[in-house]
Amino acid sequence: MTRKIVSINPHTESPLGSVSAATSKDYQRIMTNAEKAFASWRTLPAPKRGEVVRQIGDALRKQKSRLGTLISQEMGKSKEEGDGEVQEMIDMADFAVGQSRMLYGLTMQSERPEHRLYEQWHPLGIVGVITAFNFPMAVWSWNAFIAAIAGNCVVWKPSPKVPLCALEVQKICDKVMAKNNCKGVFSYFVTDDVTLINRFVDDKRVPLISFTGSTAVGNKIAQRVAARFGRTILECSGNNAVIVDETADLKLALSAVLFGAVGTCGQRCTTTRRVFVQDSVYDHFVRALIKAYNGVTAELTGPLVDAQALANYEAAIKDLKASGVKILIGGKRIRKPGYFVEPTIVEANNDWPIVKQETFAPILYVMRYTKLEDAIAAQNDVEQGLSSSLFTTNLKNAELFLSARGSDCGIANINVGTSGAEIGGAFGGEKSTGGGRESGSDSWKAYMRRQTNTINWSNQLPLAQDIRFDLTRRK
Ligand code: UN1
Repeated sequence: MTRKIVSINPHTESPLGSVSAATSKDYQRIMTNAEKAFASWRTLPAPKRGEVVRQIGDALRKQKSRLGTLISQEMGKSKEEGDGEVQEMIDMADFAVGQSRMLYGLTMQSERPEHRLYEQWHPLGIVGVITAFNFPMAVWSWNAFIAAIAGNCVVWKPSPKVPLCALEVQKICDKVMAKNNCKGVFSYFVTDDVTLINRFVDDKRVPLISFTGSTAVGNKIAQRVAARFGRTILECSGNNAVIVDETADLKLALSAVLFGAVGTCGQRCTTTRRVFVQDSVYDHFVRALIKAYNGVTAELTGPLVDAQALANYEAAIKDLKASGVKILIGGKRIRKPGYFVEPTIVEANNDWPIVKQETFAPILYVMRYTKLEDAIAAQNDVEQGLSSSLFTTNLKNAELFLSARGSDCGIANINVGTSGAEIGGAFGGEKSTGGGRESGSDSWKAYMRRQTNTINWSNQLPLAQDIRFDLTRRK
């Protein structure tokens, strides 16, 4: 009998369902089918591939509420945020459909007469997608829809914490792909077996692995894939900060910090973990923030994903208390079924080791600053570099924050919080966040290989750089 991976509802701590763990044989079959599918999928014109993705987007539209509910039940985020995640997939499908007609290559001017020089983009082959529990569907779609319109096949390894979400998405894909006669373009396998995961990561048939998860795991994956000259797209840990300056619209800043810090129970890679507030507005802002936290309900945040996440939250709080830190609000598990915790605010110092870490829970560190330059330096003084934002109405401050002397993150916003990015921009971050970019802008290029083509339509063979290589030439 095959082993089952059980999905736990974090609202109730009881089983929600289970899926079969993939065996080594299953893996072999999936890869063989994906290889076969690639052979024909790559020959289908890109706009036709886009048409198939459009059909998936339509199916998602029809099932938005049902899928949003499942995300909420299995991952823990609120129903509202679950629906938002499905909307993110729908947006991604629409984006990918348009992109399928825009896989542009440049035409360059050749230095040789009657020569044409241009570039074109070809698919890579099988794209491996490894996703985390916190966005059990959308992050797959960022990768899968772009990879597919580019002509690749996609093999997905979802987080074993949220296998039912992956199963439902796979079912939708299977239906659409069967109707279009292109089975095997999207497939998935669920496993928690490190040996099988490493086999996937080491598999030369997978030229690109897109990984979302912790920096520690991303680091190992990057090295393994690099050792076989594969490519990676890494979307690892963040430690995102909001800076609130003395000119900020404090109401806006408050709403953004609230959603960024407690939404999804602090389990987004874009979650606001640190806030730097200018001295002259610090007391007022922090008081207002505490008041707002008082009104936050467990329904709004949802629970943490599992017992391990709860243990991590409790360990961080214990650590903070042991060092005599001032917890302004929160800090406890909520005594009811489910992995619910109180969103927590701590008056902190950016130099503390715990502030430099990404604790995947709603713990917010607030800090005071005098000069904006110092706040920016402190914001940047962490290993991670995903998302950042400044609340200001001062043009000079805004421009400084966005300049090369400003935020060192992949995402830098003005009067918009750190989380909740739109899919149209390229998503990802610098430093130990991994440097990958996904979803919008020209992220599609990472899923394709570039080929430079020179065509000679003359009767001569002139060499570049004016080199003469002539056998009849005298010394
Ligand atoms: C993640 O947490 O891995 O910007 C992705 C956001 C979402 C995506 C988060 N659109 O918060």
